[in-house]
Amino acid sequence: MTENNLLITNIGCLYQTDNGDRTMVKGANMAQLPCINNAFILIKDGKIEDFGTMEKVPSGEHIPQIDVQGKMVMPAWCDSHTHIVYPQSREIEYIDKIKGLSYEDIAKRGGGILNSAKKMRDVSENQLFADAMQRLETMKYLGTGAVEIKSGYGLSTAEELKMLRVIRRLKQESNLTIRATFLGAHAIPQEYKNNRTKYINLIVDEMIPEIEREQLADFVDVFCDKGFFTVEETARILEAGIRAGMRPKIHANELDYSGGIQVGVKYNALSVDHLEYTGDDEIEVLRDSRTMPTVLPGAAFFLGMVYAPVRKMIEQGLPVALATDCNPGSSPSGNMQLIISMGCILYRMLPEEVINAVTLNSAYAMGIEKELGSIAKGKKANIIILKNIPSLAYLPYAYGENKVETVIIGGKIQ
Ligand code: NIG
Ligand code: FE
Repeated sequence: MTENNLLITNIGCLYQTDNGDRTMVKGANMAQLPCINNAFILIKDGKIEDFGTMEKVPSGEHIPQIDVQGKMVMPAWCDSHTHIVYPQSREIEYIDKIKGLSYEDIAKRGGGILNSAKKMRDVSENQLFADAMQRLETMKYLGTGAVEIKSGYGLSTAEELKMLRVIRRLKQESNLTIRATFLGAHAIPQEYKNNRTKYINLIVDEMIPEIEREQLADFVDVFCDKGFFTVEETARILEAGIRAGMRPKIHANELDYSGGIQVGVKYNALSVDHLEYTGDDEIEVLRDSRTMPTVLPGAAFFLGMVYAPVRKMIEQGLPVALATDCNPGSSPSGNMQLIISMGCILYRMLPEEVINAVTLNSAYAMGIEKELGSIAKGKKANIIILKNIPSLAYLPYAYGENKVETVIIGGKIQ
């Protein structure tokens, strides 16, 4: 597999290096970003074989080499929360939002998630796959090397399975690292409005067993929030998911102090995501947990929500991950570079904190921190070479500009 061998030399700064034993970065440590100046990386068979300063660059390697002439290199981003399998964009609702309707108002009128679920029935698996693949490619060239993808626009057994099979095909045919999440509990379908329990029974008794049989999902998700699923309903679905081998990873506290964070931690969720409504009690619960608090700046920005108290969370010792939440309703962008800028501009995170949040911490939030998220020997070589930018801070500072020059996935230049 010589095409997956590569020697990168004269790296100005090689960021996020370690010996593979860090699983996440939290609290004050989030402001620390390891880096080696004047460095090389050696990639063999798609994995990082070695790295260090140029004094130790291996000689006599008969493999392709690139001299990056002082540019910065770092791990590709991990986008740990997306909904990129969807049938159509929803800019009609966007106009409603501009005119003043809230996310909940739109959902109540049968818009929002239910609108996507209606359109889902009319789209073929092939079309869904082709559209999602194109989104993945766009994200890749902006520097993303791993993506978590959720179902949740099906809301019936057949349509949820259709979405998950599309994600399985994306896993097979894309060279990005992908994880699949079952989000049957994204909204209560119209026909179950007066019998919520019946829909939850369907998730627990029919959808989850079938997903387990076909091994279609790594994680189970619930939208535990005001107007969506209650804490009790969430607990029931998470228990069923856990029995079927899926670790929870949930939507929580986007619209209210919903108890979502508490129930997520209780069931050892890998992550709890959104977190606009995070108070002292929630921070306390998260502090001793193994759950990654994940903030989705795109959704808060697009919907004009309050912003999660990220500074306070970090000051209180928590880790934070950032992801795009790319979806047609609340965050129609898969651009992690924009998320990096929003981390600094809207949440007052430092550039180093943001890079930790979109590499190692977001790798943890999708359960791939042993294989991605830092530059460590043995990890998969999903790496980006930045354009000739003057400093690390320029990366969030120059928002809206593509600062990624070259993307390398599994050792291969894309
Ligand atoms: O993460 N908050 C819940 N679900 C998505 C929105 C999905 C949609 O509106 O289509 C989110 O923001
Ligand atoms: Fe989401």
